[in-house]
Amino acid sequence: MAPMMTTHREELRQTWPMSSKVVVGIARDLAAHRMGTWGVPQKVIDDVLVVVSEAMTNVFKHVKKGPVKLHLAHQGDAVLAEIWDCSPIAPTLRPIDPDTEGGMGLHIIAGLTENRCGHRWDSGGKTVYGFIPIP
Ligand SMILES: Nc1ncnc2c1ncn2[C@@H]1O[C@H](COP(=O)(O)OP(=O)(O)O)[C@@H](O)[C@H]1O
Ligand SMILES: [Mg+2]
Repeated sequence: MAPMMTTHREELRQTWPMSSKVVVGIARDLAAHRMGTWGVPQKVIDDVLVVVSEAMTNVFKHVKKGPVKLHLAHQGDAVLAEIWDCSPIAPTLRPIDPDTEGGMGLHIIAGLTENRCGHRWDSGGKTVYGFIPIP
């Protein structure tokens, strides 16, 4: 019998029926706990949690309806974070304006992912994704 092919890839998939401040907090706690079990370094966990928080807060703020989905995958040299929502509107990078509150979330995601981030149209909505490097 041929040996079975196995691929080692640790993943978290979770859907919530709506996005809210509470869901953002729950997602952060769940993600932190799971990445701990995967052995992801604490500094990387912290960065992933910021990316997840910013992207999920954007769903809560700008889409305002659910559901919202979180997918994390531990890929050895990076953690892939994907946040899906049902809106067909693209996230738009705003110019940094020191006199305006907000508008930093996508810049923070771009920084923490070293620009390995973006969005794609997916399942009637879109997925915002980013790869957070593991040094
Ligand atoms: N999930 C999303 N769906 C639709 N529009 C979004 C989404 N995320 C972000 N945006 C748009 O991109 C802009 C920039 O997002 P961000 O940098 O996080 O700033 P902020 O949330 O403070 O406005 C938002 O103002 C919004 O118009
Ligand atoms: Mg934001």
